[in-house]
Amino acid sequence: MQPAVFITRPIFESVLTQIASQCEVKRNREDRTLSREELFAGLAGCQGVLCQLTDRMDREAMEHAPELRVIANIAVGYDNIDVASATERGILVTNTPEVLTETTADFAFALLLAAARRLVEADQFARSGQWKQWKLDMLLGTDAHHGTLGIIGLGRIGRAVARRARGFQMIVLYAGPRRASPEVEQELGARYVPLETLLRESDFVSLHVPLKPETRHLIGAPQLALMKPTAILINTTRGPVVDEAALVEALREGRIQGAGLDVFEREPEIHPGLLVLPNVVLAPHIGSGSRQTRLRMVELAAENLLAALSGQVPPNLVNRGGH
Ligand code: GLV
Repeated sequence: MQPAVFITRPIFESVLTQIASQCEVKRNREDRTLSREELFAGLAGCQGVLCQLTDRMDREAMEHAPELRVIANIAVGYDNIDVASATERGILVTNTPEVLTETTADFAFALLLAAARRLVEADQFARSGQWKQWKLDMLLGTDAHHGTLGIIGLGRIGRAVARRARGFQMIVLYAGPRRASPEVEQELGARYVPLETLLRESDFVSLHVPLKPETRHLIGAPQLALMKPTAILINTTRGPVVDEAALVEALREGRIQGAGLDVFEREPEIHPGLLVLPNVVLAPHIGSGSRQTRLRMVELAAENLLAALSGQVPPNLVNRGGH
């Protein structure tokens, strides 16, 4: 008998066809996040689930799927999944690393440049007919080139951002729980410093740590207070890594200069304070959102799902200790 799989949201047709050739597919055809009850009903009787970062796969959800063997998340981040509970139940958890590294790093840099050079303000200024004449001091921004970039979390995406920074002849500092090898440091021209030093010295601070209990509100009022008044904060990881209320205060009071944000504490809600600030560039969590990469992510998630269901070790197993 073919294993039963629940697909929580519409995915690309080619991948759906592939999964359907090997599994009995149950799916949500509407492109919206399911309610808890709908998620529970969908999971019932399934051995596999292909889910997204908007699906909270916690203990309660797993209790509704006693036969579940694999949770394949279409995302590199997996803070939406209670991995400990999954491991306890012998459920494999997989994510989609690597395929989105360069795309997400591109987007972090896009936010950095847009915030530094006030691109969104400039676009609005040009469209709204306010542009009457060329002016020497019109919409002046900050140079990215030769600036100091502080990368918090030098993992795959952090390193890809550092490589881009080299092209802009930036000084690259990094902080985080793990120090890179001397070879990587040398290749990237990145210097390992304590977080406080990074915050004090950087013109741009870009966040690349995953969301975990120890990284929740990693950047709060005390950390923002260490940053330069001219500094710009970039967040393409997960919203709760930053204390959004503290960030609004810091931006409002000019304690830092600006921010480029792709992720928020309570998505899709955005703190109302951010919405009215001109010195922030906001995006609706689209860091990995290129056509090519989103397809690769879904393909990889399906590969993980099918491997697990056929008794193989999936290529991107998160809870290695589980089996
Ligand atoms: C997106 O945020 C991801 O984790 O892939």
